[in-house]
Amino acid sequence: MKKYIDTVTAGDCIELLNRLPDNSVDMTFADPPFNLRKKYGRYNDHLKDQEYLNWCKMWILELVRVTKSTGSIFLHNIPKWLIKYSYFLDDAADFKHWIAWDAQTAPMGKTLQPSHYGILFYAKDAEKLVFNELRYPHKRSRQTNILAKDYGGKKHLLHPYGPLVSDVWTDIHRLKHNKYRDTHPCQLPVHLLERFILMATDENNIVLDPFVGTGTTAVAAKRLGRRYIGFDIDDNYVDITKNKLNNVESNSRIGSSWVSFYLGEIITLRDKDWNDIKQYFYIPTKKQDVDKQPIILKNKSKAVPNYCAVKNEIRDLSLFANAKNFKMTKKFIEKC
Ligand SMILES: C[S@@+](CC[C@H](N)C(=O)[O-])C[C@H]1O[C@@H](n2cnc3c(N)ncnc32)[C@H](O)[C@@H]1O
Repeated sequence: MKKYIDTVTAGDCIELLNRLPDNSVDMTFADPPFNLRKKYGRYNDHLKDQEYLNWCKMWILELVRVTKSTGSIFLHNIPKWLIKYSYFLDDAADFKHWIAWDAQTAPMGKTLQPSHYGILFYAKDAEKLVFNELRYPHKRSRQTNILAKDYGGKKHLLHPYGPLVSDVWTDIHRLKHNKYRDTHPCQLPVHLLERFILMATDENNIVLDPFVGTGTTAVAAKRLGRRYIGFDIDDNYVDITKNKLNNVESNSRIGSSWVSFYLGEIITLRDKDWNDIKQYFYIPTKKQDVDKQPIILKNKSKAVPNYCAVKNEIRDLSLFANAKNFKMTKKFIEKC
């Protein structure tokens, strides 16, 4: 087992999973080929339906076997396959959630426009599951900064940072800029994986991905101070992943709390860490004011890991706040 920890190995995932002991990892995440004729380096993504499902059953049951009784299993795919996964998964593990990740997908003939990917979340044993509630920032109007949701007379109950994460995720976007993509047809965003990892694991826990591609899960695990095991059948993707990992630090935290950053903002944190984290924000004294005024991270150049590089990214993506937001933010900081 030891030789696979903090490494990414080229090979067939079923053969490699066979070598791992029962109950040995804390979280498994799988993003298999979806059988949609994508052009991978070394994989034929066009099997007969039943052949594809038989293959999925083999690696999924292996994932369940190697997951600890406290652990979580996440399976990312299109709804067509996920509903079939449940037939065999329900006998082996406990269903927790269907997470809808709001991201446009390709239309497939006469269908409604597919607009979400699903992630099946199973617990190996629901009674023993380790689970952390998460929060994400309030959604606001881009023009006015006012909260998108109307809390009516309940504004005094607002959490200053943001609501608890639900089973519908609309705030994480697919990688659209080629500059941020590897030569892989379906690379996931790192902060998507960070959300699963924060939910299901603690520092130094082991996260396994049998289809690691160009390393998203391993990168997210390393950034969050977890250990990782990655497999991919394509040695070219494995080489890309290894190179990437050499440049990743385990520093995605604020104070002693692990969090997920995106473009210089914390976009996922654990509810139980909020009391330690809140000192790093300017927070309006009146809870009602959170409606009009976002809370702001203090001293970003110190608080955000590699902030210089992040600033360049923000500039590249033309996401600098518009003049109005900038003025409001400046005024607010001065007031604090
Ligand atoms: C959808 S992609 C995963 C992308 C990954 N989540 C990322 O963000 O880079 C599926 C991956 O499964 C790999 N693959 C296909 N068959 C495999 C097998 N039998 N064992 C291990 N990896 C396999 C492919 O090479 C491909 O990289």
